[in-house]
Amino acid sequence: MQKYTNTAESQYIAPKGLEPISIMIVCTTVAALQQHLQQQQITRSKTGFVPTMGALHQGHLALIEQSLSLELFTICSIFVNPTQFNNPDDFAKYPITIANDIRLLESVGCHLLFLPSVQEMYPQGTQATRHYELGFLETVFEGSHRPGHFQGVCQVVHRLLNIVPCGKMLLGQKDYQQCMVLTQLVKTIPIATEIIIAPTVREADGLAMSSRNMRLNPEQRQQATAIYKAMQFIKSKLQPGDTTTLASNAAQQLLDAGFTSIDYVSLAHAHTLEPITDWDGSTPLVVLVAAFLGEVRLIDNYVI
Ligand code: PAJ
Repeated sequence: MQKYTNTAESQYIAPKGLEPISIMIVCTTVAALQQHLQQQQITRSKTGFVPTMGALHQGHLALIEQSLSLELFTICSIFVNPTQFNNPDDFAKYPITIANDIRLLESVGCHLLFLPSVQEMYPQGTQATRHYELGFLETVFEGSHRPGHFQGVCQVVHRLLNIVPCGKMLLGQKDYQQCMVLTQLVKTIPIATEIIIAPTVREADGLAMSSRNMRLNPEQRQQATAIYKAMQFIKSKLQPGDTTTLASNAAQQLLDAGFTSIDYVSLAHAHTLEPITDWDGSTPLVVLVAAFLGEVRLIDNYVI
């Protein structure tokens, strides 16, 4: 049984004969985290930070590994942030697998896990105290389909960046629009953090790894591969000119495969997310998909 507490001194002690691959510090309070960093003289420039909501998979671990490969003291946070869920049911059903998460983080050599409570993250309560000006990004795709979502993401990441002094924050391209939003956030707050974006990690059949995949039943898990196929279809058939038929054919493929509803299957400018319906043949494009399999909403993207 592994132990974790909120005192910076405490460390995971392996049972006899079962040595851990590495010792990971687990802090549940801001004070314990900051005390540890101070005692060990770990400075901002030596720290890499990977914020997560847990239910970890290889996509998350690749971010940890990238931070470690940069020889950074690597901190992962696990916090299922209530303020970014526009759908209460999605929040209630978000998978929580802390014991397994700790095992996975230790297996790759993560140095420190920050595992705060809601009270620790939001001592004054969860209500927003500021509005983040996200402009156009909040009006399209995830911004328009999940009202308030990016405000919640900015609120929690701003708070985390105030707690965790990090020279680099590592994010996954899997959440393409989130990467753009957080790049915008760090430009507007007085915190010197560089963002590193890592490629999407996929299952062998192309499905992007996601904590929400755990909620799919075996049939849905099979059907979910249609997203990757639809994005590949768009890539292979793309021609300059009107792209709306191509996008709607790809959306139809998802419905034919068993998806219950589609939020969007669209092409957009890869740098601005301006939707593109008439391609000039040279503008950099990203295909963006969000669709439901039953109650489970999956998102993915592919840069062309
Ligand atoms: P979460 O969905 O747990 O993702 C944490 C980080 O892992 C994000 O940067 C996400 O893009 C990345 N990630 C998820 N799946 C990935 C995959 N298949 N390949 C590569 N990277 C992947 O995103 C969040 O949590 C939250 O919104 C958070 C930023 C932590 C704020 O609460």
